[in-house]
Amino acid sequence: MNDQVTAHYSGGGGLAEAIAGRFKDAGRDLGALTTTDLATVDEFHIRGRAATLELGARMRLRDDSQVLDIGSGLGGPARTLAERYGCHVTGIDLTAAFCDAAEALTGWVGLADRVTFRQGDATDLPFEKDRFDAAMTIHAAMNIAAKDKVYANAKRVLKPGGVFAVYDVLQGEGGDVFFPVPWAREPSISHLVTPEEMVTLLTDAGFKISHVHDSTEESQVWFEEMFERMANAVTPPVTFKIFLGEDLPVMARNQVRNLTDRRIRTVSYICEA
Ligand SMILES: C[S@@+](CC[C@H](N)C(=O)[O-])C[C@H]1O[C@@H](n2cnc3c(N)ncnc32)[C@H](O)[C@@H]1O
Repeated sequence: MNDQVTAHYSGGGGLAEAIAGRFKDAGRDLGALTTTDLATVDEFHIRGRAATLELGARMRLRDDSQVLDIGSGLGGPARTLAERYGCHVTGIDLTAAFCDAAEALTGWVGLADRVTFRQGDATDLPFEKDRFDAAMTIHAAMNIAAKDKVYANAKRVLKPGGVFAVYDVLQGEGGDVFFPVPWAREPSISHLVTPEEMVTLLTDAGFKISHVHDSTEESQVWFEEMFERMANAVTPPVTFKIFLGEDLPVMARNQVRNLTDRRIRTVSYICEA
């Protein structure tokens, strides 16, 4: 199962070089890139950087905070929060190709002293108890069947009272998901739970939920706008297409349908450990 997930995300390999090439072709100097420039490719979740900043604003982050990003992908959310709050962020992700590229992109924007990545599985986090002040997970659990293990691990590595921020795609009431979608080309690696199941999972892991935000309507608008930009060939130098490939327009169209029909919902949770 894990192999299928990493194969889905790995693309053709050489991801950092491919991203660098696109920026160079667009006349951009790699050394002058900002985290905002990278956001069209490295904030790999619905509503991108804005959603990361919304979550970060509720995580009580300080410049001495140690933060864990579970399922960190190309590292956009980790860099965004490290830059905004001066905190240290450790990202962990199953896909080695993403971890390697995440390290490279972090170097480009000068954040390597505060943001690091390692390959690993969210269901078996390689960190000691009470290691982190805060943790987040954005759009990663949709690929993970054993969500109880993910949240139990998050609880274990967080200090008592630490904040756990979760932002995920959930199963909606409108019916089965249309595939392909950005996290899965077919159902075998897609494991969505309903909002009710999510509350049970988080509370069973020992978290107290202090804030819930259902952003489904905003997500629908975000995907409608993305689909329209692609249809009009108005795209930035680098997009998710660099690892998702030619399926991206079909995935975006399906996401508009999935969100419009409420086959999926996007919901964030702020929890206290
Ligand atoms: C849609 S991407 C989101 C990446 C990142 N959180 C972001 O928002 O930009 C999902 C990520 O979850 C990772 N992932 C899936 N299953 C995982 C697991 N069992 N442990 C750690 N990471 C996992 C994938 O490798 C992928 O990088």
